Order: sequence, then structure tokens, then C-alpha cells
Amino acid sequence: MATKVILTTGANRGIGFSIVQALAQRSSDLTLLVASRSKDNANEAVSQLQGLGLKADVQPIELDVTDDVSIKGAVEEVKANYGKLDVLINNAGIAGKIAEDNSDFREMYQKILNTNVTSVGLVSTLFLPLLREAKDPRIVNVSSARGSLTLVTTGKNPPTAFIPYSVSKAALNLLTVELSHTHPDIEFQAVNPGWCKTGFNGFRGPKDPLEGAQSAAELALAPKGQYKPGFWAWENNAMEEVPW
Ligand SMILES: NC(=O)c1ccc[n+]([C@@H]2O[C@H](COP(=O)([O-])OP(=O)(O)OC[C@H]3O[C@@H](n4cnc5c(N)ncnc54)[C@H](OP(=O)(O)O)[C@@H]3O)[C@@H](O)[C@H]2O)c1
Repeated sequence: MATKVILTTGANRGIGFSIVQALAQRSSDLTLLVASRSKDNANEAVSQLQGLGLKADVQPIELDVTDDVSIKGAVEEVKANYGKLDVLINNAGIAGKIAEDNSDFREMYQKILNTNVTSVGLVSTLFLPLLREAKDPRIVNVSSARGSLTLVTTGKNPPTAFIPYSVSKAALNLLTVELSHTHPDIEFQAVNPGWCKTGFNGFRGPKDPLEGAQSAAELALAPKGQYKPGFWAWENNAMEEVPW
């Protein structure tokens, strides 16, 4: 099969939805798997994307990244339908604030790290055999500038009320690098979409999520070797490296 198959997690809304839109705007010769933990939400997002007049093949798939049975089901579905996966975009992510009385301290850390780190590691690992069936396999992890140790230690990131989230994105960055060392046949990238207007931050972000989606779309489709493995953002219509 010549057409690239690209799966984006958490693609039913926000930046994930926009990543699928951005990919479809760049090429019609793609099969774009809109993964959501709710099949209904995946179907709804596919209808919305089709309503935008995009020409790529857009398909729904159920995938809760924190549920092992769901991940294995998605792997089997992709295997049965396509026999390979060209690009996995790990976009699904959560944030959250710990209660003033710390009553949910452990719960919040576990939940955020489980979704943003452990699940990315497991989803990536379980899709490796299908990625290895593709000619130029890639994994793009949607991280955040909040996970940049350089930006934090140089004071460029102001203090945050969402420490577990920042910790999770720093860990995701390291996971990206470690996995790239363990699996040198797969291209691993991390992206910072920037502060986007999504449900994630109560739609307070100044950036259009479609703009925030461009870095992941660019890395998914760029010719092999155009961008060295790293941490990237899309700024002023070009790719820019983000310090780790
Ligand atoms: N927005 C920003 O300013 C910003 C900045 C930097 C980085 N990011 C990163 O960008 C990514 C997307 O964020 P967003 O702003 O688009 O957030 P969002 O609007 O809240 O969307 C989050 C997506 O992740 C999905 N999700 C959460 N838990 C999941 C699970 N267990 N299994 C599968 N899907 C799950 C959600 O699904 P449901 O609809 O089912 O909840 C939703 O589709 C995240 O990794 C976030 O950390 C965002």
C-alpha cells in the first residue's frame, strides 16, 4: 500500500483534530486515523473533518491510551485494515491542578503521568511492529515548552501552578530521546504546539490550534532526513528548534 497511514491519538478535538486537518490540507494521498477513547466522538470528528471538504481518507478508531485492551484492539484493527502504520502521533494528553489541601496529590500525579508518559511509552511500543512494516516510520510526541528544562532553568518559563503537567512533559521529552536510542530504525520527534485555544486551557490560549498543529504535520510528512530528531515548534511559517 503506497498511501501513508497516520494515526493521531486524542484527535476528536483540540490540537489532535487540527493535526488531522493540517495533514489532510497538505496531502490527499493519506489515510488519517482519528483516534478517540470514544468511538462516537471519533465518528463525530470524522464527520466534521469530512464537512471541511478535505480529500484525504479519514477514518475513526477507538483508542483509550490508558487502557491496555483498547490499545491492543487498535493495533489489531490497524494491522487488519492496513498491515502497517507510517506515523504515530501521540497527542492525547491531560493537565490538572492539585487541590489546596493536597488530598488528591498522588492521584493527580499518577493520572497525569499515566496519560502523558506511561501511555505514550506503551502505545508507541505496541505499535512498533506495525511501524516497522512502513518504509519510513515515525513517531511524533506532542510535548510542551513547559517540559523544557532549558526554558525552566533559564527563567524563560515562568513558575507554574501545574507542576505535574510540566514534569510529565519533561519526562515525555526524555522518553522520546530514550526510545529513539533504543529503536534507531524509527524517527522520533517531539513538538511544542504553543499555547493554543483549546478545552485544555478553557480556550484561553491565543494561538489557533490549526497553527499549533503545523509542527506535527510538518514532521509527519517532511522528506526523510529533512529535520534531525529533536524538539520542534512551528513559528512564523517555519520549523524552529525548542531547547530540551
Ligand atoms: N492547548 C495548549 O495550549 C497546549 C500547549 C502545549 C501542549 N499541548 C499538548 O497538546 C496535546 C493536545 O492538547 P489539547 O490542547 O488539544 O487538549 P484538549 O482539547 O483537552 O484535547 C485533549 C485530547 O486528548 C484526549 N485524551 C485525554 N485522555 C485520553 C485518553 N486516556 N485516551 C485517549 N484520548 C485521551 C481527549 O479526549 P476526550 O475528548 O475523550 O477527553 C482529547 O481528544 C496534549 O498533549 C497537550 O499537553 C497543548
